[in-house]
Amino acid sequence: MADTSWGGPPVPGRFDGKTILITGAAGDIGLATAGRFAQEGADLALADLDQDALRRAEATLREVGPRNLRCYPCDVTDEKAVVQLTEQAARELDGIDLLFNNAGYQGEFAQTHRFPAQDFRKILEVNVTGAFLVLREVTAHMAERGGGAVVNTASMAGVEGPPNMLGYGASKGAVITMTMTAAKDLAPLGIRVNAISPAYMGPGYMWDRQTRKQAEAGSQYFPADPSAVGDQMIESIPMRRCGRIEEIPGTVAFLMSPDASYITGVNIPIAGGIG
Ligand SMILES: NC(=O)c1ccc[n+]([C@@H]2O[C@H](COP(=O)([O-])OP(=O)(O)OC[C@H]3O[C@@H](n4cnc5c(N)ncnc54)[C@H](O)[C@@H]3O)[C@@H](O)[C@H]2O)c1
Repeated sequence: MADTSWGGPPVPGRFDGKTILITGAAGDIGLATAGRFAQEGADLALADLDQDALRRAEATLREVGPRNLRCYPCDVTDEKAVVQLTEQAARELDGIDLLFNNAGYQGEFAQTHRFPAQDFRKILEVNVTGAFLVLREVTAHMAERGGGAVVNTASMAGVEGPPNMLGYGASKGAVITMTMTAAKDLAPLGIRVNAISPAYMGPGYMWDRQTRKQAEAGSQYFPADPSAVGDQMIESIPMRRCGRIEEIPGTVAFLMSPDASYITGVNIPIAGGIG
C-alpha cells in the first residue's frame, strides 16, 4: 500500500458516507488514490480495462478495509460500457459523489514528423474521448443528485509540450481545457471540476518507460542512455528529485473535499516546480 511517509497523512472520516468512482484504478496513481480515500472513509467504485490488475488492486485495498468496494472492468472508450458502469456503480453503491477521472495511456515517443497516426488516434481515444465519456455520464448522474466533485488527471505534458510526446501532450492539453469548460458548465449544478498535472513520478514503471522511450526517440533533447536521460530530467526539476506516487492522492483528496468548496476549473501541477 502507499508509503504514508510521502505526502501528508490521511484525514480519517473526511469522506465518510461518500462514494468515489476511480477510473484507471488498477494503475499506480489510481490504486494509491483509492487507498487514500478508503483510509478517509469513502466507499470505492473501481474501474479499469485490465481485469487481472483490478483483481490485484481489490485484494490490496481489502486490507485497508473500505466499508464498500466494487470493481468494474470497463473500457472508458466504449460509450455503452461507460453508461453501464455509471448506472451499475450508482445503483450498487447508492450514488456517486466523487469522480477521479484518471485512466490514461502514454503512447509512443517519436518526433513530430515521424509520429505514428495509429498511436496518435489511440492516445486521443483513451485520454480525451474516454475522459469525456466518463465525465459526461458521471456528471449527468451527479446533476440529478444535486452536486459532486471531479478531478481529472492531466499531465505537465499538456502544459509544456515535451519533445517526442505529440499525442500525449495534445491529449492532456485537451484534458486541461475540458476541465475549464466543464467547470463553467457544471458550476450552476453544484459540481466542481478540477485537474491535477503530475510530472516526473518515480521510481517505478512510468519513470523507467519514459527515460527509456526518450532515449530511444533519438532527438537532440535527450542522450541515448536512459539513465543519463533520467539525470537530465532531474536536473530540470527545481526540487531536483522525482515526485512519488504517494505525493498525488492528498492533492486529489483536497480538491474533492469541502476545503476546496470554492475551487473549480483549476489545474494543479504536482511537479516539483516545473511549468
Ligand atoms: N505516472 C506518471 O508519471 C504520470 C504523470 C502524469 C500524468 N499521469 C497520468 O496519470 C494517470 C494514471 O497513470 P499511472 O501513472 O497510474 O499509469 P498506469 O499505467 O499505472 O495506470 C493507468 C491505468 O489506466 C488503465 N487504462 C488504460 N486504458 C484504459 C481504458 N481504455 N479504459 C479503462 N482503463 C484504462 C490501465 O489499465 C492502467 O491501470 C494517467 O492518466 C496518466 O496519463 C501519470
